[in-house]
Amino acid sequence: MARLKVENLSFSFGYETILDDISFEVNEGEVVSIVGPSGGGKTTLLRLCAGLLDRQEGKIENSFETQSIAFQDPRLLPWKNTLDNISFGLKALGVPTKERDARAREIALQFDLEESDLTKFPKELSGGMSQRVSFARALVTKPKLLFLDEPFSALDIGLKRELQDHVMRLIDKKEITIFFITHDIMEAIRLSDKILLLAPDPGHIVKIFEFDKPQAERNDEYVYAETAKILSDREIIETFELELK
Ligand SMILES: Nc1ncnc2c1ncn2[C@@H]1O[C@H](COP(=O)(O)OP(=O)(O)OP(=O)(O)O)[C@@H](O)[C@H]1O
Ligand SMILES: [Mg+2]
Repeated sequence: MARLKVENLSFSFGYETILDDISFEVNEGEVVSIVGPSGGGKTTLLRLCAGLLDRQEGKIENSFETQSIAFQDPRLLPWKNTLDNISFGLKALGVPTKERDARAREIALQFDLEESDLTKFPKELSGGMSQRVSFARALVTKPKLLFLDEPFSALDIGLKRELQDHVMRLIDKKEITIFFITHDIMEAIRLSDKILLLAPDPGHIVKIFEFDKPQAERNDEYVYAETAKILSDREIIETFELELK
C-alpha cells in the first residue's frame, strides 16, 4: 500500500525555525487535512512533502506513483489559454493532442467553466475561475496523490460544494489520496479521515482529529455537529486564540 510518511521533520528558513518535529502518515485512499493559523507553516509543510522544498531534518517517505499539486495562488501560465493550462501536465506525459484537449475540456465543463472560457487567457479570468482551472489542471492527470493548498478559498458556497462533491466521488471510488490545507473547518470535516492541527511558532502538530464515518454518509447535520464539537475543543481554542462567547 502506498503512503506518505513524515517522521520528525523540522525545517528552517534562515535562522527562523518554521516546523518542529512533525510526524504523521497519509495512507493510500485517505484524505488528510491540515488546519492552523495563518503563517504557521502549512504551505511549507506541503511543499516539503511534495518535494518542492529540500528537506533539512527528519524523513519523508513517499511511495505514491504519481502526484500533483494545486497551489494557494493559481499560478497559471499567462501565455496559455484555459484549455492549454489544464492540459499542460498531460503534454508532459506524452498524451496525444486530441485526447489532451478532450480530457481538459471534459474536466473544465465539470467544474462549471463555460465553453467560451476555454479560450480565455488567465488575465481574463476571475479569481474563482482561475482557482477552478488550477484545480482542474491538478486533477486531469489522475494523480494517485493530490496535494491541495486551500483549493476552494476563492469560490462561492455553491461552487465550493460542487467541487467538494467531485472530490468526494473520487474518494468514494478510492481513486485518489489527498493531503490538503484548508481554513474552512467544515470543509475539513466534510472531506477528511484525519485533521492535523498545526500550531505556530514554530509549527508543530498539537492534535490529530479522526473521523470514521465514510465521507459519502456525512450529511449536513453530521458536519454541523462535528464542527460545533471541534470549535469547542480546548486545543483548537488555544491554537486559534478563539474567545469563547
Ligand atoms: N520562501 C520563504 N522564505 C522565507 N520565509 C518563508 C518563505 N516561505 C514562507 N516563509 C515563512 O514561513 C512561515 C510559514 O509560512 P507558510 O506559508 O508555510 O504559512 P501558512 O501556514 O501556509 O500560512 P497561510 O495560512 O497564511 O497560508 C512564515 O513566517 C513565512 O514568512
Ligand atoms: Mg499557506
